Amino acid sequence: MAHKSDLIATDIQAYLKSHEHKSLLRFITCGSVDDGKSTLIGRLLYESKMIFEDQLSTLEADSKKVGTQGGELDFALLVDGLAAEREQGITIDVAYRFFSTDRRKFIVADTPGHEQYTRNMVTGASTADVAVILIDARKGVLTQTRRHSYIVSLIGIKHVVLAINKMDLVGYSQQIFDTIVTEYREFASQIGLENIVPVPLSALRGDNMLERSSATPWYQGPTLMEYLESVEIEDDLQHRPFRLPVQWVNRPNQDFRGFAGTIASGVIRKGDTIRALPSGRTSKVARIVTHNGDLEQAVAGQSITLTLTDEVDISRGDVIAAAASPPAVADQFQATIIWMHEEAMLPGRPYLIKLGSRTVTGSITAPKYKVNVNTLEHLAAKQLELNEIGVCNLSLDRAVAFDPYTDNRETGGFILIDKISNDTVGAGLLSFALRRAENIHWQALDVNKHARAGLKGQRACVLWFTGLSGAGKSTIANLVEKRLHSLGRHTYTLDGDNVRHGLNKDLGFTDADRVENIRRVAEVSKLMVDAGLIVLVSFISPFRSERRLARELMQPGEFLEVFVDTPLEEAEKRDPKGLYKKARRGELQNFTGIDSPYEAPEKPEIHLRTALSSPEAAAEDIMNKLRDAGMLYPADELSGL
Ligand code: ADX
Repeated sequence: MAHKSDLIATDIQAYLKSHEHKSLLRFITCGSVDDGKSTLIGRLLYESKMIFEDQLSTLEADSKKVGTQGGELDFALLVDGLAAEREQGITIDVAYRFFSTDRRKFIVADTPGHEQYTRNMVTGASTADVAVILIDARKGVLTQTRRHSYIVSLIGIKHVVLAINKMDLVGYSQQIFDTIVTEYREFASQIGLENIVPVPLSALRGDNMLERSSATPWYQGPTLMEYLESVEIEDDLQHRPFRLPVQWVNRPNQDFRGFAGTIASGVIRKGDTIRALPSGRTSKVARIVTHNGDLEQAVAGQSITLTLTDEVDISRGDVIAAAASPPAVADQFQATIIWMHEEAMLPGRPYLIKLGSRTVTGSITAPKYKVNVNTLEHLAAKQLELNEIGVCNLSLDRAVAFDPYTDNRETGGFILIDKISNDTVGAGLLSFALRRAENIHWQALDVNKHARAGLKGQRACVLWFTGLSGAGKSTIANLVEKRLHSLGRHTYTLDGDNVRHGLNKDLGFTDADRVENIRRVAEVSKLMVDAGLIVLVSFISPFRSERRLARELMQPGEFLEVFVDTPLEEAEKRDPKGLYKKARRGELQNFTGIDSPYEAPEKPEIHLRTALSSPEAAAEDIMNKLRDAGMLYPADELSGL
């Protein structure tokens, strides 16, 4: 049996379809339940007759049951009821509601005002043309009002309704209304919000909702519905340069090669000259193919497949653009990041970055500052926590085509995804490319890694020892290095305790510092591998993400992860430096295994269970593995064997 809310969604789609000729306005409501948000949305839905009969009768019955609002319908019950229905099983952060009048159809993003506000608001706001910011007339401009407004301006919503609600509870006072408007405008001008229309309302009583209220004779502006029906949304995407992020390359046979995607901005016509980015190659549009046949031209929002007059190598994730005004291409940016996950953003950690139709790996530097969204103050920050907004540098593993977010939301906005959990952890807006990206080139050297390792009669690699403090990493690494040395191999050991006395003496043991600790050591070991050495790295390196980062810096086969697997009780019993005792006494914070996590490797190349064997046996084990993998001989000799 179809679920009730599915039925509603289908009905609404059918309804919207029968009103296709009308323009569509998307808006978001910002405010908490106490501001009367549910009542406001409920009344809009009710008055526009988009409530289905069965819901209406339930609503009437419920209102009577609850006995609130002096026998009037409680619209909040309607909206909250829908929300409860939708939230069964899954958490939906944003509920989209549909309604329609004779003049327009509407989609309203209703975002819960509680805890997760930033994440929900960003999601709801990202597609909105108008924001309705609710204020309780008795309370005026609150911290929350400023926070919502800041996010609205950041996301780039140009039109704001300042819905000053509950006017009935302040005697419809013009003075109170004017004071709130003045205060709000002052704040809004600081964040660049310009088109603000204040409306005095009582969502509960219906004042200035659809019809002008006789209780506010001093108010000359539009009612909320008049505004929503008539506000002009510049369709400026069409007037911006052409951008088509390529979602997939359609090649059913030798004769047809099409590039499919949704046009992010601009207009394209047959015969137009285009440029593919990042390659920079140009060509001309041969055909614009759609499900309903070929088109002469297509505009922003349409899904199309382009064919070109030349064979140009374009892949998924590339951008096809107007040849004369292409986007820039870069791999380093300044960006505003909105962090959306319970686990803090960690500078230096590799995340997946999804920008348009392209997904690349990137990392974020420590924030230059974070913004106190209540006061707009810039604050110093080492990382970003849930709901925080900061300005950071972003570095990608390859160059991508982009526009600044203020020019184009589609090609300038991105999301951040955790590589291990696949959760969306943040959203970002590109500000500009850093000049470094274009100006730092890779210096090609004639004497390369292969030559250097060859001269030493070996192959360069990293043995990456990971495990708890006291697991025996350094002891085993030391034994392995001695054996390699006696065989005439060229080695170097990077040991956590030692490196923390020099290169990394500015780092402690917070998650952020550990990420940076491992990032630097990974980079150093990469240089040492390039120098042709066999590098032994002995760090707790507790996080999977950073061990993976180290692995990905090396060539396949060069990175050997050695899991020194000692149970916590065993390591704690050994406690060679007395640190576990200190940690247990609470004298040492963030100690791995006690109050800081250790994420065990899933597929280490070498797994040593130290409870079962001696350090010598473990070292022997590693030597055998190295020999078997041919790491003790130069690559050439090996192939000659
Ligand atoms: S890592 O987590 O960032 O990889 P690293 O291997 O560099 O750690 O340093 C671990 C060494 O620092 C331990 O062997 C121990 O001697 C010392 N140490 C001091 N404080 C801590 C702590 N809070 N957690 C873990 N190790 C600590």
